[in-house]
Amino acid sequence: KNIVILISGRGSNMEAVVRAAENEGWPARIAAVISNKPEAKGLEFAKARGIPTAVVANKDFSSRAEFDAALQESIDRFAPDLVVLAGFMRILTAPFVAHYEGRMLNIHPSLLPLFPGLGTHQQALDAGETEHGATVHFVTAELDHGPVVAQARVPVLPDDTEDTLSARVLVEEHKLYPHAVRLFVEDRLSITDGEVRITNAAP
Ligand code: GRF
Repeated sequence: KNIVILISGRGSNMEAVVRAAENEGWPARIAAVISNKPEAKGLEFAKARGIPTAVVANKDFSSRAEFDAALQESIDRFAPDLVVLAGFMRILTAPFVAHYEGRMLNIHPSLLPLFPGLGTHQQALDAGETEHGATVHFVTAELDHGPVVAQARVPVLPDDTEDTLSARVLVEEHKLYPHAVRLFVEDRLSITDGEVRITNAAP
């Protein structure tokens, strides 16, 4: 299976997926890492690993539709079976999302449906939540609303700040996302009519 990973910045989730694919011998290869920001830190890690990288800079395009078309072209050059959004900070147009229906995953740092959008950790603190976490979901046209694949939970502690809480969640993201992507590449994760199916044994 070919995986294309999209990033915008640090890329620590991308790194976790790349390492797991390698260490666990997945039936998959990371075909490319693509960023919408030329300065994304994660590109360096990918290059050092010999993974093909590409930049499709959104600032070079005057509309979302044009950017998404260029991004799609860049992604499809690598013939992906799965597109993995890993800290990819762009809202995607409906045609783009439709093109990758059933084969695009995202990780979001909250227990969806709680706290879609940005600033999730502070929102969880402000709401007085005692539990917080991360969600992997299939991407649909509505931001952070796609069908849930898997979630990881962490406690919110009394002295938590945005930094301590986000760090605790990130540790879990780095386990959760590789787990979910692995299910997909082993043909154990699928979605039909909006319903997620996970099977235990590899077929
Ligand atoms: C992660 O918290 C992810 O859940 C969110 O953006 C952050 C990206 O971090 N979508 P990284 O670039 O993977 O380090």
